[in-house]
Amino acid sequence: MGRLSGRRAIVTGAASGIGRATAQLFAGEGAQVLAVDRPGADLAFDNPAILTLAQDITEDAAPDAIVCKAVETFGGLDIVYNNAGVGFSAPVADTTDDQFDRQIAVNLRAAFRIARQSVPHLVKSGHGRLIFTASIMARHTDNGLVAYSAAKAGVVGMMRTFALELGRHAVTSNAILPGAIATGMTAASFQREDIQAVWAKKAALKRLGQPIDIARAALFLASEDGGFVTGQALGVDGGLMLRV
Ligand SMILES: NC(=O)c1ccc[n+]([C@@H]2O[C@H](COP(=O)([O-])OP(=O)(O)OC[C@H]3O[C@@H](n4cnc5c(N)ncnc54)[C@H](O)[C@@H]3O)[C@@H](O)[C@H]2O)c1
Repeated sequence: MGRLSGRRAIVTGAASGIGRATAQLFAGEGAQVLAVDRPGADLAFDNPAILTLAQDITEDAAPDAIVCKAVETFGGLDIVYNNAGVGFSAPVADTTDDQFDRQIAVNLRAAFRIARQSVPHLVKSGHGRLIFTASIMARHTDNGLVAYSAAKAGVVGMMRTFALELGRHAVTSNAILPGAIATGMTAASFQREDIQAVWAKKAALKRLGQPIDIARAALFLASEDGGFVTGQALGVDGGLMLRV
């Protein structure tokens, strides 16, 4: 028996990085998974328990399309992992309205709308799990991250309200705050060995994170093991932020 045996899950941003690793791990632990990513993204998996949906999560009809597909195919919904995200860096003075709005739209607004759409199904589940990928940049920041940090801090605030309101229905809501993880988002930076070395050295564990490191944290929160954990922002950063 897998740790998610019989559970039905949605994972967004599942074509790459953290989302891909999580979709595979959840399916390997017995869940049926709807793996969602943008049209054109590589959504090929070799596990038949993973169903795919090419859908831009920022579209008006996206929450309905995603949640309906999962519920109609699986007969219900237990886990929603709002993980899809975009990162963009520009100095405050150069960040345009469009750039700011886009980061809020993908990283915060779309996650809210999908979570809201899933609430009745998570309540019905009797052990619903909402999980969000925020970032250590929800608590901290770096040069160029004005929109990203705002969006990710928003995710953590939003996650807490879901936790408070849905706790009486046995639904948990938590956010994972990854540190420096080797994924599609960071590939351009981390293909430079000097940049990779700087970030690895900063972490107490002296290495970059891999997508599976975050997927395992998501599995904990999604499984029975995480059943009494709610409203938490869980840093999974290898000790990156321990030192100032
Ligand atoms: N990699 C890191 O160091 C790091 C650190 C902290 C937080 N995060 C967060 O982790 C999450 C996953 O990112 P990742 O690092 O795996 O990067 P990634 O680029 O490998 O994966 C992100 C996925 O989200 C998808 N996506 C983006 N916009 C979308 C949209 N509008 N509709 C549907 N899908 C969309 C992308 O196509 C991509 O497949 C993001 O929320 C990111 O902000 C990453």
